[in-house]
Amino acid sequence: MSGKKFNVAVAGATGAVGNQMITCLEESNIPLSSVKFLASHRSAGRKLRFRGDLIDVEELTESSFKGVDIALFSAGGGTSKKFAPIAAKDGCVVVDNSSAWRMDPDVPLVVPEVNPHAVADYTNKGIIANPNCSTIQMVVAINPIYRKCGIKRIVVSTYQAVSGTGKKAIDELFDQTRSMINFLDYEINVYPHRIAFNCLPHIDVFLENGYTKEEMKMVNETRKIFEDDSIGVTATTVRVPVFYSHSESVNIETKKHISADEVKSLLENEPGIKVVDDPANNIYPLAIDAAGQDLTLVGRIRNDESIQNGINMWIVADNIRKGAATNTVQIAEILADKYL
Ligand code: A2P
Repeated sequence: MSGKKFNVAVAGATGAVGNQMITCLEESNIPLSSVKFLASHRSAGRKLRFRGDLIDVEELTESSFKGVDIALFSAGGGTSKKFAPIAAKDGCVVVDNSSAWRMDPDVPLVVPEVNPHAVADYTNKGIIANPNCSTIQMVVAINPIYRKCGIKRIVVSTYQAVSGTGKKAIDELFDQTRSMINFLDYEINVYPHRIAFNCLPHIDVFLENGYTKEEMKMVNETRKIFEDDSIGVTATTVRVPVFYSHSESVNIETKKHISADEVKSLLENEPGIKVVDDPANNIYPLAIDAAGQDLTLVGRIRNDESIQNGINMWIVADNIRKGAATNTVQIAEILADKYL
């Protein structure tokens, strides 16, 4: 660190991810000279706690970013599309958690365990994108295998928590569950169907090819992060009635052979990963164990006996922390430490 202190803003500070960004910033070693919390006009005047102080939430406007060095955005795609370039024009570097900028060729898409070098490309537009939550945990877990053996193809099915949709969805699952166990009527507002006691094979909008946008994010973002368009990726993304942590069943076909035991030892020595794999004692990654911490849990590591070079894994991480806020703050830490 150069001794410099940074003015940092959080846009979307009152949301599920924004709130966690504040906690991650409190835990971070970025030297801060000020923090600024931004949200919609509805939240202006609310107060949020930061390291013991109460900070006023301000309405996000075009002049919010003057004097701000780093802005962490999680206020929806539309807000990012409009305000990230305005912030960048004021000399602020934006780390954006929405999908608005992820596939822009001039915007780096970064998972610090996988492609930290890409942070340097923030100079193109003053914007760095944080990948989709499901993509982040998958690439963290498969990166060591990719580096050692190469990957031909990935088949992934996700079991995603409602917190990925935001606060309203957390409330909806809670309200529907409470209503149903009390034999009361329930409302459906956030998803097209009831989420309580149900699974929805539908995350984000459907595209012309029959996949959802979430599924195609996993395809395109994985290739961009590995800088390798030859990787075949096919995804089915499913919303499940879980509050926090996404779980994923991942099948990979490697270029060179690697055994399940070798994968276990490889992953055991990687930062950001915890191997949780002792099925004889009913030990495997669980959403409830991943929630509230930053490690990506990997278990049920098996050889895929249907092909020559295949591995199956179960990958679980806290979608709000490593899948969003933690990854964003880790990118900001690299920026502050190496580039600003
Ligand atoms: P607010 O709480 O004032 O509506 P979540 O993803 O949990 O729903 O949170 C979304 C976050 O984005 C909230 O902090 C919300 O603020 C903020 N937000 C939504 N729309 C806007 C907007 N047009 N301008 C600024 N912040 C916004």
